[in-house]
Amino acid sequence: MFKHLIKRANAVIEALPYLTKFNGKTIVIKYGGAAMQSEELKNGVIQDVVLLKMVGMEPILVHGGGPEINKALRRRGLEPKFVGGYRVTDKETMRVVQKVLGEKINQQIVSLIKKAGGKAKGFYGKKGRVIKAFKYWKKDSEGNKVDLGFTGQVGGIRYRYLNKWMKLGYIPVLTSIGVGKRGGIYNINADKAAAAIAAYLKAEKLIMMTDVLGVLDGSKLVSEINTYRAEKMIKSGSISGGMIPKVKSCLYALRKGVKTAHIIDGRLPHAILLELFTDHGIGTMVRK
Ligand SMILES: Nc1ncnc2c1ncn2[C@@H]1O[C@H](COP(=O)(O)OP(=O)(O)OP(=O)(O)O)[C@@H](O)[C@H]1O
Ligand SMILES: [Mg+2]
Repeated sequence: MFKHLIKRANAVIEALPYLTKFNGKTIVIKYGGAAMQSEELKNGVIQDVVLLKMVGMEPILVHGGGPEINKALRRRGLEPKFVGGYRVTDKETMRVVQKVLGEKINQQIVSLIKKAGGKAKGFYGKKGRVIKAFKYWKKDSEGNKVDLGFTGQVGGIRYRYLNKWMKLGYIPVLTSIGVGKRGGIYNINADKAAAAIAAYLKAEKLIMMTDVLGVLDGSKLVSEINTYRAEKMIKSGSISGGMIPKVKSCLYALRKGVKTAHIIDGRLPHAILLELFTDHGIGTMVRK
């Protein structure tokens, strides 16, 4: 008589061991711009994050917005430039980044969380000054410094301040715009920012949500990757573009004591729940 209801109750009960395991644990989720394309998907991701908070975990959302920034730049007649997966950020690009990431996407995510019944607090750039930054000098293959303009690197995280908001029941939503010592702002690769936050907060998990199944070798999904294989694949060029900072950031977080790091497909409905509440795991698990 209540068969379908009992089935539903069973599905909830199956999550119990995972709920126990992850209770009170910090889960840093990088939500890539590439996986933000449809409203339906966005809502699904947000619902997952709100659910995690409601069942006693501590999710933190760090978002990117690459495709939206590129669109906005092109509308202004500017061509997006990247070196080894890192954006070259001149003054005009920084203005666009601040507008698109900070003012638009950050606020959008915060209001979606509120709509889904959660409490959210948005931080970007000078708002909260959560991410401390300094200029990032990239090195090319010959070791020469490459000037990426206002592209920055994480110098520190005000994690106690973040913790304070989390304790008050808020889900922090962070844009990867950091503030320098002299008050200047820097555009930071969101994967790197997420990894730094996970490291400072000693997170249980770092989840990178992107627009591919995970790390691919040709067309095949690599379900587990370690430092050795990652370096080999980056050298050979089979890992390129935005996947380079993603894999490197996962490895960095693991070295700093984050327990696990995953690269998963944000296009898959409820990918976060699948990753957290099933044994199977999806996407690529990164190992030291
Ligand atoms: N070996 C690989 N496996 C999977 N994806 C790869 C690989 N090499 C390069 N890529 C590229 O990396 C991209 C993901 O990184 P990208 O920076 O574009 O997205 P994101 O980080 O999710 O979003 P955002 O940068 O907006 O935060 C994939 O869409 C794919 O084109
Ligand atoms: Mg990226």
